[in-house]
Amino acid sequence: MKHLFNVIAIGCDHGGYDLKREIIKYLTSNNIQYIDFGSYNTESVNYPDYAHMVCEALQNNQADCGILICGTGIGMSMAANKHKGIRAACCSDTFSARMTRMHNDANVLCMGGRVIGTGLALDITELFLKTEFEGGRHEIRVKLIADLENKK
Ligand code: RB5
Repeated sequence: MKHLFNVIAIGCDHGGYDLKREIIKYLTSNNIQYIDFGSYNTESVNYPDYAHMVCEALQNNQADCGILICGTGIGMSMAANKHKGIRAACCSDTFSARMTRMHNDANVLCMGGRVIGTGLALDITELFLKTEFEGGRHEIRVKLIADLENKK
């Protein structure tokens, strides 16, 4: 299976910094281009700021996939999903990582640096980056998610 995305926008807060470094090693060793939006150390920062930068990169077509890491992955996914066109999935297992690509066409992977170990996070990342959207009956459901962006 090959990697499907051209450029990954990646970001983290202090809770995700160490794991982000491991994910960047994976991207580098697989010759996958990435843009690192920080943070760049373990000083306390606000995760929505980093979610916003990564999502904006996708919206501006600077990147075609995002990876966001905080302590749990949850805050990042909540913040990311406020953005138009963003379908962020917080994954702590490989089955969810595969299914959210196949069924939800997720374009941002969120993980918790305090939840999962590096080995599992790398497996999740690899599956997310290599699994194709199935389309078909899932196309209409993804479109229905987009329609919710224009409702209250
Ligand atoms: C930061 O302490 C922590 O709240 C953050 O990394 C994340 O887990 C939020 O969802």
